[in-house]
Amino acid sequence: MRIVHVLGTRPNFVKMAPVIAALTRRMPDADQEIVHTGQHYDRMMSQIFFEQLGVPAPDHMLEVGSGSHAVQTARVMERLEPLLVEDRPDLLVVPGDVNSTFAAALTAVKMGIPVAHIESGLRSYDREMPEEVNRVLTDAISDQLFVHSEEAIRNLEIEGIPAEKVHFVGNTMIDSLVALQDRFHPLEACRQYGVEPGGYLLVTLHRPALVDGPLLFEAISALNLVAADIPVLFPVHPRTKARLAGEVEISPGLKLVDPAGYLEFLSLESDAAGVLTDSGGIQEETTYLGVPCFTLRDNTERPVTVELGTNTLLGLDPARIAEIPGLITGGGRITPRPPPLWDGNAAERIAEQIAPKN
Ligand code: UD1
Ligand code: UDP
Repeated sequence: MRIVHVLGTRPNFVKMAPVIAALTRRMPDADQEIVHTGQHYDRMMSQIFFEQLGVPAPDHMLEVGSGSHAVQTARVMERLEPLLVEDRPDLLVVPGDVNSTFAAALTAVKMGIPVAHIESGLRSYDREMPEEVNRVLTDAISDQLFVHSEEAIRNLEIEGIPAEKVHFVGNTMIDSLVALQDRFHPLEACRQYGVEPGGYLLVTLHRPALVDGPLLFEAISALNLVAADIPVLFPVHPRTKARLAGEVEISPGLKLVDPAGYLEFLSLESDAAGVLTDSGGIQEETTYLGVPCFTLRDNTERPVTVELGTNTLLGLDPARIAEIPGLITGGGRITPRPPPLWDGNAAERIAEQIAPKN
């Protein structure tokens, strides 16, 4: 069997590492190739994840880099197609909802190559999110749809996706976290940043709806005020960093730092008093860890993190950041209630489905 995995961004690497490993264990003789689109390319957005997660070096680098949605999508398609013509894989595997995901799936499906989509069925029902368009389109053309929550099954049913294509396997991003627990828990990475375990608010913000407009500066003003109550540690995504390049006033308690390595970031999450984010994956990781999470968005494609987990939707309203110190004071850890099948074995279930043994 010949399989091509296409990855391009920080969360893709986390979601795919366990899948590639599980397929390699199950089919040591299969021909598996890793294609890195190059959508993310800074060392701390890309290479560090291969190193820390033990993902083999990519066989092909497409080097598409940054650009508009059309440019990024088109470059992936143009550069992937010749590789697929040569390789003729039996299956193409893509994770998540980024431009690289949809571009690769569309390229393959037009060539008659079956597509497996990891993390299918998530819906924010907000088509202004570029990811929502990628999710709907990728699911519509995939052959095997691997989902990690029950609402995802319902979302796909509503869109008329045949049930036999849909497999409830669990969450591969949580597989990666579980696999590295013994390494990140003792790290106390927060001390490198001069803050104490349990004594800081961790922040990540990168969604265009927030950071590409004036709301980002409202969020920074609110964080400056919160930092008087509790230190704030903010590893800044490159999209956000580019927007903050001008004159922005930062109070002493607000630490803007570079993106953290994956192990370091998991350590920062697990030791935080709370997390403020608009990330998808971080809503899930905090749910698993039992760390209070505040999501600065109007909606989430991951409602299970609100229903069973630790996630509170604040709305796309930076003024509400002021409430966070009051909400986390004395809160301590919440006993984690991981959603069904968020157990560290999702990738094994995917491998069994892709390569059933008779
Ligand atoms: C992308 C995904 C988003 C995902 C996020 C994960 C799409 C439409 N968006 O958003 O769903 O949540 O990745 O982090 O696919 N940049 C660098 N160095 C890098 C990468 C990016 O400097 O290594 C800067 C560039 O200025 C670039 C900007 O970040 O223009 C945005 O990068 P891009 O990949 O287009 O989108 P993200 O915001 O990262
Ligand atoms: N992450 C990281 N370093 C950081 C910020 C995030 O390693 O500085 C990890 C985080 O643990 C999670 C993933 O990156 O596994 C989430 O990626 P991101 O928030 O960029 O994307 P999203 O999940 O929103 O698509």
